[in-house]
Amino acid sequence: MSITPWWRSAVVYEAYIRSFADGNGDGLGDIPGLRSRLPYLADVGVDAIWITPWYPSPMADAGYDVADYRSIDPRFGTLAEARALLTDAHDLGIRVLLDIVPNHTSDQHPWFVAAVRAGRGSPERARYLFREGRGRGGSRPPNNWVSVFGGSAWTRVRERDGKPGEWYLHLFAPEQPDLDWSQPDVRTDFETTLRFWFDLGLDGFRIDVAHSLIKAGGLPDIPADMQDGVSGRPAGHPHWDRDEVHDLYRRWRSIGNSYDEPRIFVAEAWVDEPERLARYVRRDELHTAFNFEFLQTAWLAPPLRNTIERTLTEHARVGAPPTWVLSNHDVVRSVSRYAREQTGDRMIFLENLLGKPADATLGLRRARAAALLMLALPGGAYIYQGEELGLQEVEDLPTEALTDPTWERSGRTRRGRDGCRVPLPWDGDRPPYGFGAGPGHPWLPQPDTWAEHTVAAQRDQPDSTLSLYREALRIRHLHPALGDGSLRWLPAPDGALAFAREPRFRCYVNVSAAPLALPVKSTVLLASGPLDAARMLPPDTAVWVDQAA
Ligand code: GLC
Repeated sequence: MSITPWWRSAVVYEAYIRSFADGNGDGLGDIPGLRSRLPYLADVGVDAIWITPWYPSPMADAGYDVADYRSIDPRFGTLAEARALLTDAHDLGIRVLLDIVPNHTSDQHPWFVAAVRAGRGSPERARYLFREGRGRGGSRPPNNWVSVFGGSAWTRVRERDGKPGEWYLHLFAPEQPDLDWSQPDVRTDFETTLRFWFDLGLDGFRIDVAHSLIKAGGLPDIPADMQDGVSGRPAGHPHWDRDEVHDLYRRWRSIGNSYDEPRIFVAEAWVDEPERLARYVRRDELHTAFNFEFLQTAWLAPPLRNTIERTLTEHARVGAPPTWVLSNHDVVRSVSRYAREQTGDRMIFLENLLGKPADATLGLRRARAAALLMLALPGGAYIYQGEELGLQEVEDLPTEALTDPTWERSGRTRRGRDGCRVPLPWDGDRPPYGFGAGPGHPWLPQPDTWAEHTVAAQRDQPDSTLSLYREALRIRHLHPALGDGSLRWLPAPDGALAFAREPRFRCYVNVSAAPLALPVKSTVLLASGPLDAARMLPPDTAVWVDQAA
């Protein structure tokens, strides 16, 4: 009998370490804090956690600027504490994934420091993408590529003689120089890093910007019709989603497979087409890839169904399970997204939301329904910390509190991602809500309206969002129809989604403005909101039912 591998149906919880729990009271989340809250995660019922970067870092991009890939930043803890965390998590039946950031290092990484110092044409510079500028005296950047955070993707260094010299590429902040993945020692060094953590007991990696590592030879300008976004559409973009990147991941898969208990990967690859995404999870490549298409789909039945269908079809073609996501540390929280009118316009960053009227109650109702939809779909799912508490985006952080490089790099026009990164509220009725022991202020200020959202306030409330997630995960573990597999669409009126998963499981989601009648012969397993007496499913509500075929 074959056993389905755990990752095909895993519910993974994103622990954004800076904001999860602060063990030493300095205002920044850390390993001891996370470790002390593992029983909470076991109680919620997650299968695994993904921990965001804990490596030594100058924190120019909240730790996604890594100065040493095989060590831990003292602000987060020690290697011994990391080991203890792995042991405790495994004892609780929770697997652990870690972020790896291979596209770029920190500008404080010894390789980059040496590259700047070593000068033009040196082997040290060859690990990065240094080029001469264009125009008189090389005073203009080598090409027209732009940083995801705003501005040019090139910064010029001063050479040893004190004169302006070559430029280096950074698709993100200047403190995050891009590596040149055609260099063999870049490849072998990352393979050593993978093994280092796997040998310590780590179960897998989340690969940061997995679709950007390979750049087109000659670093040509980006054509005018390819200049929007981070997704590389249409195919052929000079630095997003290039075909050659897949060779790297075949190699990484073989490293993961070399362990008795195979280690796994999940790709962060912002590609628009489900067909392009599925290429990352072909049988000899990565195991899973976040399906960001789902997160970007409006709360409207036709596009939701379309996204689900296309995702299922393309993943089935390569034999991989889809991985559903509603939120993460880079996008606005789903409650706030759904609180706005759903027009189909892009709504993933705070700047897409500001100025649009919000109905928070409606947003929460939809987010709860979306959670039941997501957790009923075939494959795995990711929950971003705080999603299970129904947290909203903090849209009004004082500008002096903002830390995301996007804020400064956009000339203070885009506030960036801090609003979804505010530290978690655990208990109490005022900040810091049990986030940290002691006097340290959380690194981002928490709203004074979060008392009702704390874990303590929701834990024993049967209708709380925390209880909904916990119950959904409990049913998901027990029910043979859920997790990996397939679905069958059922007839449903306009504005509703209905599907069956065998044996006996049905999910109905009412995305319309009118109540929806449920089949008479069915038993409700779980609903995202109250049903009315006549067993009608109200708008923006989802229900799981048990029903004979
Ligand atoms: C990924 C991370 C994001 C980071 C970026 C650069 O998108 O999720 O937080 O800023 O990569 O490393």
